[in-house]
Amino acid sequence: MSESHPTQVLRDEHQWILAVAEALERLLGAPPSAMDFDTVEKCVTFIRLFADACHHGKEEDLLFPVLEEQGMPRDSGPIAVMLHEHRLGREAAAAMRKALPGARDGDEDDRLRLVHAGRSYIDLIRGHIGKEDHVLFNMADQMVSGETRVRLCAAYDETCSHAFEGCTKAQLEALGREIVGHPGR
Ligand SMILES: [Fe+2]
Repeated sequence: MSESHPTQVLRDEHQWILAVAEALERLLGAPPSAMDFDTVEKCVTFIRLFADACHHGKEEDLLFPVLEEQGMPRDSGPIAVMLHEHRLGREAAAAMRKALPGARDGDEDDRLRLVHAGRSYIDLIRGHIGKEDHVLFNMADQMVSGETRVRLCAAYDETCSHAFEGCTKAQLEALGREIVGHPGR
């Protein structure tokens, strides 16, 4: 179903991403011998497929181009900052993914790389979502209306109907629910 607000679906997705970031922070704070690598791996999958492919995909391919149509520059200002932070997030997620197998096998350097990359991601994504929710999205809500809003919301629905490496958005939300550990959130 289309959202009536041009950024509502994205704001709702932010809540999932923040909840998984909080869970990841707890997981990474466990003593080395007690680290739950299986759930950390689920967090990395969620970050790659939900936070990046599904969510950042909608921002980069749908919302930001509409804001550009409305006169917001791409190479400077808020959009440029958001795109740069998306790239940093992808790098942190890739670093976590790379370090996971070694860390799971007991390599202490890889475990430290995993924890470092994970904490970098958590700090980044909290600040990033704060900027979007409180600055960029408020600007977008002022700028996008009428037919453009209807078209944008329909395009969100279309993207959300895709599978991401074989996972539907509903399956990824179920993964998020499993990670956070609060069924029925
Ligand atoms: Fe976002």
